[in-house]
Order: sequence, then structure tokens, then C-alpha cells
Amino acid sequence: MNTQDYLDLELKYGAHNYHPLPVVLSRGEGVYVWDVEGKKYYDFLSAYSAVNQGHCHPKIIKALNSQASKLTLTSRAFHNDVLGPYEKFMTNFFGYDKVLPMNTGVEGGETANKLARKWGYMRKGIPENEAKIIFVNGNFWGRTLAAISSSDDPSSYKGFGPYMPGYNLIPYNDLNILEKTLKDPNVCAFMVEPIQGEAGVIVPDEGYLKGVREICNRYNVLFIADEVQTGLARTGKLLACDHEGVKPDILILGKALSGGVFPVSAVLANDDVMLCIKPGEHGSTYGGNPLACKVAIAALNVINEENLCENSQILGEVFRKKLRNFSNPLIKEVRGKGLLNAIEVNDSSESKTAWNICMKLKEKGLLAKPTHGNIIRFAPPLVIDKKHLDICVELIKNVFESFKK
Ligand SMILES: Cc1ncc(COP(=O)(O)O)c(C=O)c1O
Repeated sequence: MNTQDYLDLELKYGAHNYHPLPVVLSRGEGVYVWDVEGKKYYDFLSAYSAVNQGHCHPKIIKALNSQASKLTLTSRAFHNDVLGPYEKFMTNFFGYDKVLPMNTGVEGGETANKLARKWGYMRKGIPENEAKIIFVNGNFWGRTLAAISSSDDPSSYKGFGPYMPGYNLIPYNDLNILEKTLKDPNVCAFMVEPIQGEAGVIVPDEGYLKGVREICNRYNVLFIADEVQTGLARTGKLLACDHEGVKPDILILGKALSGGVFPVSAVLANDDVMLCIKPGEHGSTYGGNPLACKVAIAALNVINEENLCENSQILGEVFRKKLRNFSNPLIKEVRGKGLLNAIEVNDSSESKTAWNICMKLKEKGLLAKPTHGNIIRFAPPLVIDKKHLDICVELIKNVFESFKK
């Protein structure tokens, strides 16, 4: 079967809920993926930052394989001999009292929301059913009804109502409005991405996260950081919050927690928050399964052993500097942190320019995907080295040069 055969199968038998680039991949290793015709590409999406450690990292795959033949799932009806050690490892690694294991990122967000509401009733004294959670415009945390209820993107929410009550939106990167909003005594939490990924790599002003931390403290509101995309070395530190030295009350992780092997997410919090949820009040059949625990430990060890934070920080600066020095009428802005970067294309959102540039990049052997019309995100696996990054920057420049506005 060739590329077209696979595309035809998906079109005929799969739901049409995605609009992928027309490339069919069959193998991945490190920063590379290969399509079914054997063509090799640099992967500059990394499965939306799930493959930070590179495709099929041998240490992660080894952990997967060795646990897969021993014990894969017990459910939480019974204990298993990997969960406790994993929980100890995770809480030490991130500096929280407790972890609650889930699977996908959006489940992590749901868990954080439930925890925050429960804490609001039990600890803050919010009257039953009146808790509010504040989000920001442009947020993205998944596709469940709760997640789309907090979204201001019509392609996420339109046609799926009625929506979850108790969610309010305020502008991103605006501490004055945040302060006014959190004065409401029924607000239990403020949930925010330290850098907005899906919105197009929107980096807030320096001091924003510090300000969020202070305002949340002042009004006894939980600060929930959604680090599903920004976490785990992607922005040049273990967590994007680390750039400002702030610690959220609830931390949500996912994606690269398994190095792209399968869905593993986690919510971390201290006892005062986490122990608000009692046995039987929340869970997941697969959450905390031994396979996931072993894979996550391996994935986190790789981040440390291979200095992925440092590599992301250094190469991110190289990437932005080179592209900012490159003057091209189609580049409106180059922005990002670490190896989470984007080029905003200087054309209308409706024009297909960003898409066409991505098609051309594909032809030249680099995979990237537009987000929000005219923004192209560039997020290679963090195991990329300087030599290959330089090659990719030249390739990107050449493609931009070959386009006429
Ligand atoms: C910031 C953020 N939170 C949550 C999610 C949802 O993760 P998942 O797709 O694993 O449910 C995403 C997915 O892109 C994300 O970018």
C-alpha cells in the first residue's frame, strides 16, 4: 500500500475529526520519522510535545517491554508493586506531597478541576454548587465537555452545548483583571498554561506567573498550572513555571510523561488539596497502571540523564536568534521559549499560506503543522543537536525564501 491508499482508508472508515498533513508515517527514531515510501523527515511537532525524548527512545522502550511481559494492569481495585515506588519517585521529582495518576492530558485537567471544586467547598467554605474556576482566553486543555466549556474557540465549543457552568474567562497576561476577578469569594481556582501552546505559542510578559502566584495567595485561590504541553523540559526548564520560580498549587502533566509511548498523565498537589478527594470519588481504570508507571519513570530519567532542559534552552535560543536575524516579508514574528517556538506568518488567517509552507517543508523533509490559521509551531524532539538544528533552520529559511507573498 502507498500513501494514497492509507489516506483513502482513513477518509472512508475514520471519523473526519482531524485535518492532518498528507503524510503517512511508519517508523520513528530520535528526531526522525519515515513515511511508508521510506522518505525521512525531521519531526518538528513531536506529537504536540509528547515525544520530547525522541521517537522510540531505547531506555523508555526497554522499560515498556520489560514491564509488559510481567504485569500491565491491575486496576486500582488492587495494589501493584510499581505504583507506590512511582508515586514516591514522582513526588520527589516535582516536590509535592501527593500524585494522582491519570492517562490523557484532558483527564489531568478534569482531575485538577474536580480537586479545586472539592477544595473550594471543604476548605474555602464556598456554598455548595457555587464554585467558580477562572480560565483565560485562548486556553486549550482538550476536548471533553468540561474543556470545551471553558474555551473561547468556536471550533472547539460550537454545536456541543449545553456547557459546564461555573467557568469564567478573562484575558491572558492581564494581572489587573485577574486581581479583580479573584476577589469574588466563590472562586476556587485559576487555571492557566504558562505559555499557551495551541493558541500559537503565546508567551506572557515576564513576571506574569509570579503575579499569578501572588494574587492567588492573596485571595486564597488555587493556582492550577496546565503544563501538559509546556512541561518536561520543552521550554528549557523542567517546568515552564520554573522560569519564574513559582510553584503552582496543582500541577498537571501529560504528553511527554510517557515520552510518546502511550497516554500517561498526572496531577500533583500537596496534602491540603489532594486529600480533599476521598476513596470512590475519582479514578480511572488505567490510571496508575504498572506499565505507565515504569514508562514514566524511564521517561523522566531520560530528561535528566540527557540534559534535555539545558539542550532545549540553548538550542531554543539558537533557533530564535537565527530566524529573527532572517528578514523575510512572510515572517511577522518569531517567538517561544526553549524548543517550543512559532513563526507567525505575515498573511491573513484565512489564507492558506501557513499550510502551504508546511506542505513545502514536508516536501523538503521537515514536518510541522499550522495552528490557528497562520501560525506554524516548531517543536522538535529535545534530543536534537546543534548540527541538525542548524540544518533545519536553513531548510526553513529556504522554504520561506521560495514563497512569494
Ligand atoms: C496545554 C494542554 N493541556 C491539555 C491537553 C490535552 O491533552 P490530551 O490531548 O492528552 O488529552 C493539551 C493537548 O494538546 C494541551 O496542549
